[in-house]
Parts: sequence; C-alpha cells; structure tokens
Amino acid sequence: MKEYAGGVRALDGVDLTIGAGELVGIVGPSGSGKSTLLHIVGTLDRPTSGRVAIAGHDVARLTDRRLSALRARHIGFVFQAFHLAPGLSAVENVAEGLFYSGLPRARRRALAAGALARVGLADRMRHRPHELSGGQKQRVAIARALVGQPDLLLADEPTGALDTASGGTVMELPHALNDEGATIAVITHDTEIAQRLPRQVRIRDGRVVADSTRGKVVL
Ligand SMILES: Nc1ncnc2c1ncn2[C@@H]1O[C@H](COP(=O)(O)OP(=O)(O)O)[C@@H](O)[C@H]1O
Ligand SMILES: [Mg+2]
Repeated sequence: MKEYAGGVRALDGVDLTIGAGELVGIVGPSGSGKSTLLHIVGTLDRPTSGRVAIAGHDVARLTDRRLSALRARHIGFVFQAFHLAPGLSAVENVAEGLFYSGLPRARRRALAAGALARVGLADRMRHRPHELSGGQKQRVAIARALVGQPDLLLADEPTGALDTASGGTVMELPHALNDEGATIAVITHDTEIAQRLPRQVRIRDGRVVADSTRGKVVL
C-alpha cells in the first residue's frame, strides 16, 4: 500500500510479481497509480506498508545507500520526458548509465557506443539532445538504461511525448530486447501499445483489476 501525505491512497492491496524474462505492460488511466507503482517497484520510493523484493533483496531491510547501489546495479529507468543531460553528447549521456560501475572511462564510452548502435543510433554518437528528434532522444535514454545490463528495465510512458510513428519505432526496442532476455515493464495509458505486450497488468484506482498472460508459448 502507498499513501501519500494528504491521505491519497495511490496503491492499495497490489500483489505483483514480475518474473525474469517477462515483458509486462502496466496499463491504466491517468491517476490510477501507474507511476507510483513504478517508483515503488524501482525502489525510488518505499511503500507505506507491504513488501518489495528486487532480485531476492527485501528493500525495507536496506539503507538508502545500499538501496541506491542495488538500484544502480539491477534497475534501468526510462521516463516520458527522456531526462537527458543537455550539455552531453548521445554517447556521453549513455555512458552516464555506467557512472556507478567503477569501469574506466574508455571502457564506459566503448560500451555506450555499443548500446547506441544497438538502438540504431550509431550515426548519432556525437549529437547533443537538442540535435535529436524525440524518438531518437528516447532511444538514447533506452540505451542509457540498458548499458549497465540491468535485471529489470522500467519505462514510464516512454512514448507519451512522441508521435505515433516514432512511438512505434521506440516500442520495437522493448520487444527486441525482451527477445534477447531482458525483463521489462512498460507503463502506458495507450491500450493499443499495451495490446501488443505479452502480459498486461491493468490498474485502476490503485488496484490491480486484471492480469493477463497471453501470446507467449511456455515451453
Ligand atoms: N507525490 C505525491 N503526493 C501526493 N499525491 C500524489 C503524489 N504523486 C501522485 N499522487 C496521487 O496519487 C494518485 C496516483 O498518481 P500516479 O501514480 O502518478 O498515477 P498515474 O501515473 O497512473 O497517472 C493520483 O491521485 C495522484 O494525484
Ligand atoms: Mg504516471
């Protein structure tokens, strides 16, 4: 359960497990608690009551410092508004995703270049965010989230600021990355995008009202 100051109960009785290798859509109207859920799952915020475990670690038992380390190692974030550093080139922005890795700078840069190539931006390495389209900016943000090979990628309305065409291109990435084994949760209020995801968790008024798994062959 999550109750904000002022008494808004944004999440209530949510019981959700995301397994390794899943691609999940978290779907619901504006104000239903999707971003709150992402913050709690992503350990950016703590629940008022209830338990959150990431990669076997009980979040409540960790200090803020340990929690930051866990987050840096295990979770990648993508937000609607990209959150790229305006003064840095694409490759420098992606290398920021390895800030806590302890790797030498040259290695961070090489990995960042590889991640940018992976999202189809090999020819935009030196572009600054203002020299990129919205869809390209979001692909840089996805590369930054993935370069550290997190166990879980969380995306909050990644296509919310994009037109349909570039949103479609951006949404090809979660599918491709999931095929390669990444565990991904995509938050969206767009039912068309959600329909293409193998599992959909529907949330309304802070509660999970449906959880469907379909389309994926379980061997
Ligand atoms: N920091 C906050 N303080 C107080 N209330 C909040 C805060 N963040 C979100 N809320 C409220 O919690 C509910 C869920 O919000 P949110 O998780 O952002 O929904 P969604 O992402 O689905 O649009 C809303 O009623 C919202 O007004
Ligand atoms: Mg939201």
